[in-house]
Amino acid sequence: MAIPLVDLHKQYAPLKDQVLGEIEHVLEGMHLFLGDNVRDLEREFAGYSGATHGIGVSDGTAALTIILRALGIGPGDEVITVAHTFFATAEAIVLTGARPVFVDIDPVSYLMDPAQVECLITARTKAILPVHLYGQTVEMEPIWNIARRYGLKVIEDACQAHGAEYHGRKAGSLGDAAAFSFYYSKNLGAFGEGGFISTNDDELARNARMVRDHGSERRYYHDVIGFNGRLDEIQAAVLRTKLPHLDEYNARRRAHAARYDQCLAGTPVVTPVECAGNKHVYHLYVIRAPERDALQEWLKERGIASGIHYPVPCHLQKALASLGYKPGDLPVTERAAGEILSLPMYPELTGEEIAFVADSVREFYAKRAG
Ligand SMILES: Cc1ncc(COP(=O)(O)O)c(C=O)c1O
Repeated sequence: MAIPLVDLHKQYAPLKDQVLGEIEHVLEGMHLFLGDNVRDLEREFAGYSGATHGIGVSDGTAALTIILRALGIGPGDEVITVAHTFFATAEAIVLTGARPVFVDIDPVSYLMDPAQVECLITARTKAILPVHLYGQTVEMEPIWNIARRYGLKVIEDACQAHGAEYHGRKAGSLGDAAAFSFYYSKNLGAFGEGGFISTNDDELARNARMVRDHGSERRYYHDVIGFNGRLDEIQAAVLRTKLPHLDEYNARRRAHAARYDQCLAGTPVVTPVECAGNKHVYHLYVIRAPERDALQEWLKERGIASGIHYPVPCHLQKALASLGYKPGDLPVTERAAGEILSLPMYPELTGEEIAFVADSVREFYAKRAG
């Protein structure tokens, strides 16, 4: 049985006619950037996420970079974030000229450990950037308290957390601003690239809109240095056809996770934990597995794809060597990187496929024990 990590064909099939109709409509109008679809998506997805402003942008990396720039963060500033994330989180900070300062993660949730944030604050710290990794929000209450006490901004990396909730509030409304990615495999994905900024801050929203479009509010008049970070109309139209299905997609992911949890019970793997007060939307279903690499190979031989998100933490990436981190600096992060494995997860996955994956995991450890 061949099971991919993500199956986009299955999501596309039932939406095909509608998506093609919307794309045709955009092409007939030939208004390809910042038109009706982007404007409507901005209203709809900001509303969905519980924020007053939405800004469609070209991708999640641009969303992060634009937020940081719109807040005036740049050279000489520090931003506290995690190294256990996709590289773009740290990259966006570096792209502004600021310095990422990495905090270790909680060993159970794999998310920013709020208890370790305060000791990293210096006179240069401008913001805390929690990452809602794998589809689960960071424990925000202690982060809000620290930010309030030190006058810091809170920027959510919600690129993997469309629809995730923290005590009933959605990712995207839990900080000064949030960045989303609509990379094709995300819980809400474009058929190409896309990104989004949500915020309740009027001034930040205005600045972000300017940075997204070469620093201009009026064509050919440039008030600040920005870049081209615009979302295009075709991707916005695709996203608008998918948005009404997001809750159902997330509900299916949650049901699949519960099924995986059940089927994997009694094996040596550690299944993901939904922290109290959270609604996890399982962008990824990540287990902690003894003999991870051999397990991954065994699954591959059975046609089961899996992934490692992420094998090298940001602080040990070659591109960030100049920051001066070394192995051992973030022990919980480094240990997780060597043990985690993402199993197939997408809304259209079947119960039979989940059982096959879990049985294959069980067989692997039975063989090792015997
Ligand atoms: C946690 C995280 N941050 C940032 C990004 C960057 O988003 P994009 O690939 O749309 O630039 C991603 C997406 O892959 C991500 O998963």
